[in-house]
Parts: sequence; structure tokens; C-alpha cells
Amino acid sequence: MRTALVVPAAGRGDRLGAPRPKALVPLAGEPLLLHALRRATASDVVDVVVVVAPAGECEEVRSLLTSEVPGVLVVPGGAERQDSVRAGLRALPADVDVVLVHDAARCLTPPGVFTAVVAAVRAGAAGVVPVVPVSDTVKRVTGHHVVETLDRSELVAVQTPQGFSADVLRAVHEAAVPGAAATDDAGMLEALGHTVRTVPGDERAFKVTRPLDLLLAQSLVDQEAP
Ligand code: CTP
Ligand code: MG
Repeated sequence: MRTALVVPAAGRGDRLGAPRPKALVPLAGEPLLLHALRRATASDVVDVVVVVAPAGECEEVRSLLTSEVPGVLVVPGGAERQDSVRAGLRALPADVDVVLVHDAARCLTPPGVFTAVVAAVRAGAAGVVPVVPVSDTVKRVTGHHVVETLDRSELVAVQTPQGFSADVLRAVHEAAVPGAAATDDAGMLEALGHTVRTVPGDERAFKVTRPLDLLLAQSLVDQEAP
């Protein structure tokens, strides 16, 4: 049985505001997507890679990756992240039993997080998410009014890669309403009553969302350079 990695990389990156789709924005001269895939494949737990690219950039992504990630499949994404993940799942070979879904935008996620997530799925969890503590106080608001302050000790921020039993994830995505804006895959399992487990995430698995995040990523990559 084999583990697949599905990488949603089809977003435009509106909040980053770069002239290119976010996954193709350069970091130290190479696209975020390439940084993400290098770290994922260095984990040695991934057998099959499917990259979900912006529809207009599939050829560019294919030629970028063929030598770095032999056998990579590149498929066009959809309007929402959930649509892109579903497109990736449909491209998977039938003998895949574990699926990792990993945002291209979490391009500095260390290989060890992939290993830990796969181990937890192989130990029997239907869904697994890497989590980190929340450092800000979080309040629920309506308009400009605070409704309540949430108990921070019970809150975590959720990262990717998220790992799943392939059968469960396929079923959940096929049952979902197309175009609905689910921000993560584990949430779709939770909504259907499946148990989702946590493993420790990593600060470096932050998502490049806004320009400040790219500056942080740049400085981390500079520190890694020999
Ligand atoms: N993604 C995707 N298909 C979409 C939307 C998002 O594959 N239709 C991917 C992005 O490429 C990214 C990941 O999902 O790797 C997380 O999404 P996000 O950080 O929100 O990226 P964007 O949607 O590109 O950014 P924004 O929301 O700022 O436009
Ligand atoms: Mg988005």
C-alpha cells in the first residue's frame, strides 16, 4: 500500500498580492511550491505526488517539477481550495491507502511533520492534523462587539500536512457540496462524525499568506543556506 501527497497549489494568492499565483512566487530564486515539495519528499514517506496547479499554469508547473519530483502528476485546480483537493484526489492511483494534503503555501514545513502525520494515520486514525498553540488571545465578535473570550488553553492553530485514510477522504470529498469554502480537509471529516487526531506541528509550517510571511520565509531560508 502506498502514501500519496496531494498539494493544493492552485490559489491566486490575493492576500499576498504578488503578480504570479502564490505557489509560483519565488523564494530565494525558486517557487514556493518547489520548496514545499523538496521538504515533503525528503521525509521518505511519500510514494505518489499530485500537484493541483492553476489551470493556466499546468504546463509550466509540469516542466518545473518533472526532474525534481519524478512521476509527479499535475492536474488543474478549481475555484475553491476544496475543489482543488477533490481534483487531486480524483487523479490518485487506486492502490493509495494514505493521503497527505499539504498546502504549497506552507513551503518550509520540515520533513519530520510529514513522518509524524503518516505514522499517526498508519496507527489507525481516520484523520490527523498537526497543531501548534495559539499565542494571541482569541475573542468571538459580532460586528465591533465582543461576544466572548475563548479559553486559549483549549485552542490550537491547525497546519498541514493533514493525513487521512484514503477511502475516508475520498468519500468525504465526493459527498461535499462543490464550491463550498471549507478551509481544511479535517473539518469535512469532523462534520461527518469522524474522529480527527492531533500531532505536534512546527512553527516553520506557517502559511505564506501575506507579504510579511514571505519576509519571514526569506529570512529562514537565508539562515539555512550554507
Ligand atoms: N488553493 C488551491 N485552489 C484554490 C484555492 C487555494 O489549490 N482554489 C491552495 C493554495 O494554492 C494554497 C492552499 O490552497 O497552497 C491554501 O490556500 P490559501 O493560503 O488561502 O491560498 P490562496 O487561496 O492562493 O490565497 P488567498 O486566499 O489569499 O487568495
Ligand atoms: Mg484562499
